[in-house]
Amino acid sequence: MYYTTDTNGHGLAHDPFKAIVAPRPIGWIGTRSADGIPNLGPYSFFNAICDNPKLVMFSSDGLKDSVANAGQTGEFTTSFVSHDLAERMNLSSVNAPPEIDEFGYSGLTALKGNSVSAPYVAEAYAALECKVTQIFKPLTVSGDNANNTVVIGQVVAIHIKECIVTDGRIDVSKARPVARLGYRDYCTVSSVFEMIRPQWKD
Ligand SMILES: Cc1cc2nc3c(=O)[nH]c(=O)nc-3n(C[C@H](O)[C@H](O)[C@H](O)COP(=O)(O)O)c2cc1C
Repeated sequence: MYYTTDTNGHGLAHDPFKAIVAPRPIGWIGTRSADGIPNLGPYSFFNAICDNPKLVMFSSDGLKDSVANAGQTGEFTTSFVSHDLAERMNLSSVNAPPEIDEFGYSGLTALKGNSVSAPYVAEAYAALECKVTQIFKPLTVSGDNANNTVVIGQVVAIHIKECIVTDGRIDVSKARPVARLGYRDYCTVSSVFEMIRPQWKD
């Protein structure tokens, strides 16, 4: 199969793009509104984009509460979803009005960050505290703005639960991170293998 995306003529029942770009990590974005209301939402258009300095991004399809809050306060957190929290992560994606606290709605505990005042998920195996560095709408090839808004933040502090650390390394068999596939599908990491990068020798 080959198709160009101007017509998106894949001929399939559903657009396969998100199923191809998979698995995607889920950034569970915690923010606080200017009025102090905690807000939580999962974003799979999320990733780390560099590690020195540590920068992460999430992309919102339209101007959702997480973007509005991150813009107003300059802060957000990213919590990570383990398999046992998958249902509650899904619950937190409800299209609730801004005055609803999705932490409470989803049965989760909001903890205020140490270095930012945005809340993170106490039950998560890890969480990043982030300060916003950029918010922008990406450009298309025709020079128009995409409908999405990208938020980039610098990670200023990191929480890790000791129970997922084995021999000084994050143990994915204990963390059991959930990632987003296409359609309504998700996965957890079930096998891990190691590879050593080659060194060029003349
Ligand atoms: C696993 C998962 C991943 C999601 N990823 C995104 C995403 O990358 N971008 C987006 O705009 N919405 C995404 N959504 C939908 C948002 O979570 C949903 O619109 C939510 O209400 C946004 O919360 P907020 O308005 O509090 O920011 C996702 C939903 C789920 C369940």
